[in-house]
Amino acid sequence: MSLLGASTAALKRGLASSVSRTSSRGLKVLAVLYQGGEAAKQEPRLLGTIENQLGLRPWLESQGHELIATDDKEGPNSVFQKHLKDAEILITTPFHPGYLTRDLISKAQNLKLCVTAGVGSDHIDLNAAVEKKIQVLEVTGSNVVSVAEHVVMSILLLVRNFVPAHEMIERGDWQVSDVARNAFDLEGKVIGTIGAGRIGYRVLERLVPFNPKELLYYDYNALPAEGAAKVGVRRIEDLKDFVSQCDVITVNAPLHEGTKNLVDADLLSHFKKGAWLVNTARGAICNAEDVAAALASGRLAGYAGDVWNVQPAPRDHPWRYMKNPLGGGNGMTPHYSGTTLDAQARYAAGTREIIENYLAGKPQNPANVIVGVGKYETKSYGQR
Ligand code: NAI
Repeated sequence: MSLLGASTAALKRGLASSVSRTSSRGLKVLAVLYQGGEAAKQEPRLLGTIENQLGLRPWLESQGHELIATDDKEGPNSVFQKHLKDAEILITTPFHPGYLTRDLISKAQNLKLCVTAGVGSDHIDLNAAVEKKIQVLEVTGSNVVSVAEHVVMSILLLVRNFVPAHEMIERGDWQVSDVARNAFDLEGKVIGTIGAGRIGYRVLERLVPFNPKELLYYDYNALPAEGAAKVGVRRIEDLKDFVSQCDVITVNAPLHEGTKNLVDADLLSHFKKGAWLVNTARGAICNAEDVAAALASGRLAGYAGDVWNVQPAPRDHPWRYMKNPLGGGNGMTPHYSGTTLDAQARYAAGTREIIENYLAGKPQNPANVIVGVGKYETKSYGQR
C-alpha cells in the first residue's frame, strides 16, 4: 500500500494514526515529564521522570527517531515550547503538565499525536486539537485503581481525623480528646461520587464493605443497571439535591467546560454542614478560594485530594495551609495518587503501545482515544 493509501485508510477509520513510519524519516518525539532527581536515579521504576523517560529512549532511537525529554515547560523560551514547533508526537503527563494551549497548538505545525502518559487530558486544549486534527490519546484505565485506593484512603483520613492525630504524635503531645472530638465512623454515612466512570465506580465498589447508609452518584451518563445494582448505588439527577444528601462527596469527573469551577461558593452552600469533600479529579473543578473559605467556616469539615489548579502548586496556594475551625481537615498531597510504581509501569507500557500503533498505522484501542481525527471520541468530556 502506498503511503498516501495508508494515510487515507487511517483517516477513514477515524481512530487510527497517520502513515506507516517503518521506512520513512525519523520523527521528533517531545516528552514533558517531571524531574525525578536522586529518587529517579535510585529507583528506575520511576518511569514518568525525565531521568527514566518512560523507558522509551532506547526503543525510539533504535527506530531512528529523536526523543527530547524535558521538565522545562513554562514560557516561550522553555525547551517544551522550543521543540513543540516541529515535534510530531507530544507526550505529556497530568502530574507535571505541559499545558498545550490553543495558541501553542497554532504554532505546532508538525504535531499529529498527543499522548497522555496517564489519564486526564484537560491540560490540552481539546477543542483546538479537534479543529487542527491533532489526535489526543491517553492510557485509559492505567491508574484508575491507584486513584480509587487513594480516594478511599482520603475519605477515611478525613472522617477519622487522622492527620491532626498523627501530627500530635510527631509534636510529642498526647491529648486524645483534642482529636477524638472530630473523629467519626464511615459506617452509616451517605457517600456520593460526582462522576461514576472507571474511577468513580471503583471507589463505590471499595466503599461497599464499610456499610454506608447509602451510596449515590451524579453523572449525565447513567451506570448500566447491573453495575448500579451490584454496588447498590442510587442516581440523583440534580446536583444541588445530590450534594445536600451526602456526608461525603468524591469528585471523579474529568475537567472540561461543564466541570470547571463546578464546586464553588454557591454549590458549597447546598452541602450538608460539616461534609467532607475529596477531589482527586482536577483542581480546577473546585474553586480554590471558595473551598478554603468553606473549610475555615466549618461548612466543610475536611477537604482532601492531590490535584491543584496549577501544577506544581505555588507555595502560597491556600490548599496547602487551609484548616477547619478545629485546626484539621486538610488531606492534601502533591499529585501522586495515579503515579504509584505499579501505575507507572502500566502507563509507560501503554504510551509505547499507542506510539507503536501510530508508527505502524494500526488502529488504536478505541478506549484510549479522547480526540480522534477531527472529533471527540470520548463521552466523558461533556455532553456534545
Ligand atoms: P472516565 O471517563 O472513565 O469517567 C469519567 C466520568 O465522569 C464519566 O462517567 C463521565 O460521564 C462523568 N462526567 C463527565 N462530566 C461530568 C459532569 N459534568 N458531571 C458528572 N459526571 C461527569 O474517567 P476516569 O478514568 O474515571 O477518570 C476520571 C478523571 O480522574 C480523569 O479525567 C482525570 O481528570 C482524573 N484522574 C486523576 C488522577 C490522579 O492521579 N489524581 C489519575 C487518573 C485520573
